[in-house]
Amino acid sequence: MAKPVSIEVYNPSGKYRVVSTKSMPGTRWINLLVEQDCRVEICTQNKTILSVDDIIALIGDKCDGVIGQLTEDWGETLFSALSKAGGKAFSNMAVGYNNVDVNAANKYGVAVGNTPGVLTETTAELAASLSLAAARRIVEADEFMRAGLYEGWLPHLFVGNLLKGQTVGVIGAGRIGSAYARMMVEGFKMNLIYFDLYQSTRLEKFVTAYGEFLKANGEQPVTWKRAASMDEVLQQADLISLHPILDKTTYHLVNKERLSMMKKEAILINCSRGAVIDEVALVEHLKANPMFRVGLDVFEDEPFMKPGLADMKNAVVVPHIASASKWTREGMATLAALNVLGKIKGYPAWADPNRVEPFLNENAPPPAACPSIVNAKALSLPVSKL
Ligand code: GLV
Repeated sequence: MAKPVSIEVYNPSGKYRVVSTKSMPGTRWINLLVEQDCRVEICTQNKTILSVDDIIALIGDKCDGVIGQLTEDWGETLFSALSKAGGKAFSNMAVGYNNVDVNAANKYGVAVGNTPGVLTETTAELAASLSLAAARRIVEADEFMRAGLYEGWLPHLFVGNLLKGQTVGVIGAGRIGSAYARMMVEGFKMNLIYFDLYQSTRLEKFVTAYGEFLKANGEQPVTWKRAASMDEVLQQADLISLHPILDKTTYHLVNKERLSMMKKEAILINCSRGAVIDEVALVEHLKANPMFRVGLDVFEDEPFMKPGLADMKNAVVVPHIASASKWTREGMATLAALNVLGKIKGYPAWADPNRVEPFLNENAPPPAACPSIVNAKALSLPVSKL
């Protein structure tokens, strides 16, 4: 028998019972559910990561839909429990859904939502922040100041890397990778090399046009290159940012061998998923190459770091906050709630999950659709017109 978990309830007499495993930013998502006759139950248990048993207790005997988090293990056990409670809707409040067994959800006919379209710029900005923090040793320098060690200007004090004119490498030039590439090219006049199975024509056109603009103004133009392999990016770039999804093919994509191909003074950024890098190999590489720097938002065994990583001065580490801007997090909460609500109401799936502006417009009711259902096809859900 699962132990009861504490909750906060909105609209107790609502017809549909929707559970959120965490309190989420903003209030619009709650209002949208309440207006559509939902009883909203938010878990208030003082525990960062809920166990499967905690979530089973939250689901209870009758539950129409659940909004969950990327830290939770949504597999056979939870989808079976949700289905038994009459639920047909689940949404991660995240764009990534490697914590969800979509096949298990399909088996129980549960729609799985995610929240693309609101994270792009926010995540790219964090990758850019980590790039600058690592290049200019901001965290080390901050610690030095606070420790009272600053005795005056010195020629060698915290010398880092100049980005201008160097090459930024992007692995995975989808929405976030492309936004990051544009920021680094436009903001710091870096040349671009990227690897992606698909050609990013828009990105290439942007860099070409910006290069022409710089040239017309008497400045060194920026350039781009689409690499034939990921290794080519690792070998040639001075700053590399990883933007693949995590699956079997990208697990430990950056391993010992690939780290050794990179320039000794290169900077590696990861805001995708921790297991894309072999973190044990990374710690060894950081120890052996003090001029190599890394900026990490994600870790293999979150919330933990592999032994030794926290001691490395050449690592900047932040706690999985790439999507943590107020606008993005409120938008993610809204999209997750609308995914669940839409399925409960029998709405179709939105045709382009990356064009979610109509759902985020606070001055108009959202479209009668589910913003992003990853298994819409598998469940043969109807698709709305834009
Ligand atoms: C965050 O990591 C997300 O996938 O949304």
